[in-house]
Amino acid sequence: MKPWNVLAVVLSTVLVVLASGARVIRHHDPQEQEAPAGFTTPTLSEDPGSQSVSNGIVQPPDDTFAMDQAAFEEADGVDTGLGPVFNARSCADCHQNPVTGGVSQVAEFRAGHYDRRGNFVNPNIPINDNQNVIPNRSLVNDRAVCPEAQERAPKSEAVRALRMSLNTLGDGFVEAIDDGTLQAIAQQQPALSGGKIGGEFIQVPVLEAPGQTRIGRFGWKDQHASLLSFSSDAYLNEQGITNRLNMTDTTTVCKTSSDPEDGPDEVGMADIDHFAQFIRGTQVPPVDATLMASSDAQAGQQIFTQVGCAICHVTAITTAPAGTVINGGTFTVPDALGSRIIHPYSDFLLHNIGTGDGIVQNGPPDTGYKVRTTPLWGLRTHDRLMHDGLSATREQAIQRHKGEALDSANNFKGLSPTQRSQLLTFLNAL
Ligand code: HEC
Ligand code: HEC
Repeated sequence: MKPWNVLAVVLSTVLVVLASGARVIRHHDPQEQEAPAGFTTPTLSEDPGSQSVSNGIVQPPDDTFAMDQAAFEEADGVDTGLGPVFNARSCADCHQNPVTGGVSQVAEFRAGHYDRRGNFVNPNIPINDNQNVIPNRSLVNDRAVCPEAQERAPKSEAVRALRMSLNTLGDGFVEAIDDGTLQAIAQQQPALSGGKIGGEFIQVPVLEAPGQTRIGRFGWKDQHASLLSFSSDAYLNEQGITNRLNMTDTTTVCKTSSDPEDGPDEVGMADIDHFAQFIRGTQVPPVDATLMASSDAQAGQQIFTQVGCAICHVTAITTAPAGTVINGGTFTVPDALGSRIIHPYSDFLLHNIGTGDGIVQNGPPDTGYKVRTTPLWGLRTHDRLMHDGLSATREQAIQRHKGEALDSANNFKGLSPTQRSQLLTFLNAL
């Protein structure tokens, strides 16, 4: 290349960089703000979503937040593609407490086994009197539209696990956390814990960006990074409804509708787009402000950090600036979600605290006995705790923390009764 050509290339590159830099600056919000918090999506029997308030996200043309919520609450039937195998009829069946998008007591069932070399193997589940098989899938659906399609875990599948439903309120902010932020949290943990804690992040596929990955942050196993990917996965695996990112039903036994069962509506959005848009528009779970202001809760908050809980249950994270392109280039962080400070009480990383269920999903084999740090925002809206729902009280949940969390659990044991009760008061305010 001639020198002036090189110069031209350099100059045009500088211009492109400047232009894109200018774009970032225009969108960049230097003023970090707290994310709006509230249980503002009440579940109504008539006019779903009509009293809801979003976090201020701009809706796609002709769409409304109420329409997104209505789609999230809509119960499907056989006539709209439900099943053949499924767990429940609407997203809100399992994500509702205390308002639409929240948590619930509904647990799901997974199974599998380990081979002789110690690898986790997904089961092949015979249905229809052994005439058909649902291959290579650890989720066992609890319901079917006909008895022939009903799944039952075979005796060979020695690993059996329950998974509680999770809160989705505020998850648009979690999606907007930069990968680098989660990596930085993981990198700090060994130094904060004498080398005992080191959260694992895993790269997972972004379904809407084929070939692209991002750090997983959703689900008990961090199996997804994008809310559109999770919504597509849930529509197929919870309700049996095929959609553009998951085109094939789990089984054809008793199947009557053709794929994909989800498609664009009158505003050009499929149901999976409305689900993701609804979750992205929700406010974060609010604290109980009165209880949180009490001197006991305030003292408890300090103890929470002092005994090491906050190394994993991270108290504050700031989302990426508006304009940041995420999800493999398919989504730009909107103004409503960018540069927001959230208090999820989670690092969204996987840890072995001795509770793992043995099941491997999108991560490498070592994630079988790891679980994502459960976000504690909205904790007061749960009764049964931990991934399996088998801890009835907060003390029991804390006592089950071993492995990477053993030091903090021992520190908890060593607290005076007053300090322990202050810590629990703090948890009750979340
Ligand atoms: C039968 C109950 C059930 C139904 C129906 C259901 N979910 Fe879930 N949802 C769960 C459970 C259980 C989890 C945790 C799954 C896991 O990680 O193993 C979950 C997790 C999620 C998460 C991840 C939340 C987080 O913060 O990690 C999202 C997002 C989600 N569901 C969206 C949806 C959408 C959208 C629908 C409707 C298409 C839906 N779910 C239907 C039970 C359900
Ligand atoms: C090493 C990281 C780590 C530390 C330190 C830690 N936790 Fe956890 N915590 C987790 C993980 C992982 C889970 C999910 C475990 C499961 O469900 O099997 C969890 C779950 C919980 C739950 C249950 C939440 C729910 O909704 O079911 C509570 C409550 C909790 N932790 C409180 C605490 C407290 C209090 C401390 C400090 C005494 C603490 N944790 C220290 C990682 C940690």
